[in-house]
Amino acid sequence: MTTAHTDSPALQTRKIAAGAEDLTKVYGSGDTTVEALRGITIDFPAGQFTAIMGPSGSGKSTLMHCLAGLDVATSGRVRIGDVELTGLSDKAMTMLRRDRIGFVFQSFNLVPTLSAAENITLPVDIAGRDIDKEWFDAVVGRLGIADRLDHLPSELSGGQQQRVACARALVDKPEIIFGDEPTGNLDSRSSGEVLDILRAATDEFGQTVVIVTHDPRAASYADRVVFLADGKIVRELTSPSADDVFEVMKNLDNGPATAEAGSPEPATPAADGESEQVG
Ligand SMILES: Nc1ncnc2c1ncn2[C@@H]1O[C@H](COP(=O)(O)OP(=O)(O)OP(=O)(O)O)[C@@H](O)[C@H]1O
Ligand SMILES: [Mg+2]
Repeated sequence: MTTAHTDSPALQTRKIAAGAEDLTKVYGSGDTTVEALRGITIDFPAGQFTAIMGPSGSGKSTLMHCLAGLDVATSGRVRIGDVELTGLSDKAMTMLRRDRIGFVFQSFNLVPTLSAAENITLPVDIAGRDIDKEWFDAVVGRLGIADRLDHLPSELSGGQQQRVACARALVDKPEIIFGDEPTGNLDSRSSGEVLDILRAATDEFGQTVVIVTHDPRAASYADRVVFLADGKIVRELTSPSADDVFEVMKNLDNGPATAEAGSPEPATPAADGESEQVG
């Protein structure tokens, strides 16, 4: 297995699990151009849990897909560990993703004809590795899906499918786990179970976790919360409470276009996000 958790935690804190440098992503051309990422530079230290937040359309999924090598940026650089993704062959990229990255998608991406258990072990099976049965049992137990393993995705609730997708990302103990709203479809109890296990992945196994979330409580599980707006990083908090996160989000969401009628404060024109720019 090529996982990082054999290294000592002290060593890991100095390592960068993933990073982006001046990343841009432009979709479309001409009138329909969308600048989804506008110069993102960020490092994700190994063994840390980071949450990415920001309004809908701010570029969170795009950033994650570029970091995980699932999408190609328009310009800038991405690295996973010490491997620069730019210019990697398709085959090398596929192997890197398979060996080092776990991904929980915003839509679960389960294979409809495979049972929950088969979906969970699929990446490990494809890679030709052995399942760590004890860890498999621990993951499905902690995620509360042990009794749904023989069912097809269509026979599971949205929340159960989401937890199967989480288990699939966790079961091979990848160095880095990316989750695009991994608790987006879950009630607060299931959400807590998923977040606990992601927290354990960093605390107990030294894995690196990066999730996108709209939920301040979910973000409060993270060591660091990074806020995007309009394709840029506009704010960052360290070990925040859910209330801290909520306050920042409220201000981000209250941009000029969405200012509430009847607000006692005069609306500040444009450049709102700029004042909170960190880097
Ligand atoms: N394939 C695509 N083609 C064209 N535009 C796209 C494409 N994917 C995303 N976009 C646009 O890029 C911007 C960023 O999208 P992205 O999916 O990264 O947002 P997000 O922050 O993840 O939003 P949400 O919270 O709604 O998931 C949006 O304006 C979106 O419409
Ligand atoms: Mg998204």
